[in-house]
Amino acid sequence: MRVTRLLHLVRNRRVVQKFDDRMVAADAIEAVLEAARYAPSAREAQPWRFVVVQEALARHKIAAAAFNHPHVKTAPVVVVCCARIHSHVSGSGRSSFPMDVAAATQTMVIAAADLGLHSSWIYGFRESVIRPVVGVPNDVPIVALLCLGHQAGLGDLPERRSRTEVIAWDRWRSDDARSQLS
Ligand SMILES: Cc1cc2nc3c(=O)[nH]c(=O)nc-3n(C[C@H](O)[C@H](O)[C@H](O)COP(=O)(O)O)c2cc1C
Repeated sequence: MRVTRLLHLVRNRRVVQKFDDRMVAADAIEAVLEAARYAPSAREAQPWRFVVVQEALARHKIAAAAFNHPHVKTAPVVVVCCARIHSHVSGSGRSSFPMDVAAATQTMVIAAADLGLHSSWIYGFRESVIRPVVGVPNDVPIVALLCLGHQAGLGDLPERRSRTEVIAWDRWRSDDARSQLS
């Protein structure tokens, strides 16, 4: 297997425990969002819209909407990842905007790691509570939150299922993969 610089970065990204109180430089935030802007999207719809929240009161309200998740509480930057839904339903009739926003979010995760930043992707939140905090209209889904900051201490290396467990070549491998799903 060829271990590229990017693969090395991806495999060595640390799991965030808690963010410390260091700010994130404006040019680093912009670089992370620039990477998101270049993510792929179905039909090139680019449905993502991002609200970058740094203001403390708004962040605290967003943290409350995310059930006081410690990452949201401590992150100096929370990116509210939204979607314009009307332009991007694929030919099969399947909505592609959640995938598109996920692609953009993951691109930000990698870009942040490349800048020495840490990130935490949050899906568990009450959308209706965040909506008025940042002024997102009712017809714009809030798909995810991405917390950005610097790690307090050194997180663990991620644990991942083995290559043989998750990858089959040419055909689905009917081992007991199902029973291992947790
Ligand atoms: C789509 C998605 C949604 C997630 N939602 C949450 C969440 O609501 N709360 C949370 O604590 N972590 C959430 N995570 C973070 C995962 O738990 C985390 O990625 C996983 O534990 C692996 O850690 P790592 O990303 O640091 O390697 C989410 C991750 C993804 C990809």
